[in-house]
Amino acid sequence: MPNKQVIVLGLESSCDETAAAVVTGEKEILSNVVLSQNDAHAPFGGVVPEIAARAHVTEMDRLVDQAMTEAGVSYSDLSAVAATAGPGLIGGVLVGLMTAKAIASVAGVPLIGVNHLEGHALTARLTDDVAFPYLLLLVSGGHSQVLVVEGVGQYRRLGTTIDDAVGEAFDKTAKMLGLGFPGGPAVEKAAASGNPDRFDFPRPMKGREGCNFSFSGLKTAVRQAREKLGEEAGETDIADLAASFQKAAVESLMDRVAKALDLFVEDHGNGGTLVVAGGVAANQYLKGALERLAHDKGIQLKVPPPRLCTDNGAMIAWAGIERLKAGFTDGLDLMARARWPLDPDAEPAPFAGYKA
Ligand code: KG4
Ligand code: ZN
Repeated sequence: MPNKQVIVLGLESSCDETAAAVVTGEKEILSNVVLSQNDAHAPFGGVVPEIAARAHVTEMDRLVDQAMTEAGVSYSDLSAVAATAGPGLIGGVLVGLMTAKAIASVAGVPLIGVNHLEGHALTARLTDDVAFPYLLLLVSGGHSQVLVVEGVGQYRRLGTTIDDAVGEAFDKTAKMLGLGFPGGPAVEKAAASGNPDRFDFPRPMKGREGCNFSFSGLKTAVRQAREKLGEEAGETDIADLAASFQKAAVESLMDRVAKALDLFVEDHGNGGTLVVAGGVAANQYLKGALERLAHDKGIQLKVPPPRLCTDNGAMIAWAGIERLKAGFTDGLDLMARARWPLDPDAEPAPFAGYKA
């Protein structure tokens, strides 16, 4: 009898997206349902943990139902249920994990607790068949990290933020400039018509040793420039501020990634792949800069499509498949974790909190 096809349901609820997806071992995404809570958080200009957790509770069951129906599979077809078990906002993480535990125990299939960052890290293997090892730049609202992905569950962190995540800097800049939430796409849009050289913002960490990131000083510089312009600031001023901020943030990222690439090449030789993941990977200005850097360094660049770069269930289902194939499953006593570094041996970055 042929082996049963691997089919995994993946749940994501660690931040402000409630998501469920069904993916097969043959890399087919049978369904991928994502419900963004943007409208609920927009009045506050950022994600409110309590609102997020309540919204996950209200929506998760319906989304699971929708993902299973769209995929055309039944619970008895599942090989496992995967859910984000951390890091993230603990109330939300608990909702997805408890839902997965209930399904796993009723369907009699293994539970797989996935590190949200591992979900982002392995997406390029779902979309582009990227082989281990590769260098990963993870840039989202919660994280800015550069890691060597050596295998499933094997990560070496070369750098992380010592304060804010880059997506957070985009979101806060958007708030200061009155551009709305979520800030990343709004800043990119405003920046398109702005002069990126009008404001001489700092390029945090540029030229420094190591590969760590920092974005809080840049955020302060934007705030001071905005305050200096006062009430008189017009559309052009806002566009120039957005463009100057974006250029500074991207130049800072490029300096850090260039150093990480050199370290990667030292260890693994020439060639190889740079993978970008996380919501900020949707930024086209960043993508252009990364393409130039990859070209200069003679390596390949892989950027999964935006819908798989931002938080989604397919990346969790896929990481579940990779873990299942590697023989990693979890018991129903698995705990949700607010903090869960991919590389437990990496040096701590105490001011980054769960972002490290
Ligand atoms: O990966 P993600 O969906 O959620 C987290 O795990 O954080 O990333 C969301 C972040 C937000 O900070 C959002 O502003 C940012 O990604 N983002 C962007 C763009 N699209 C989303 N930042 C810059 N440019 C964009 N086009
Ligand atoms: Zn994420």
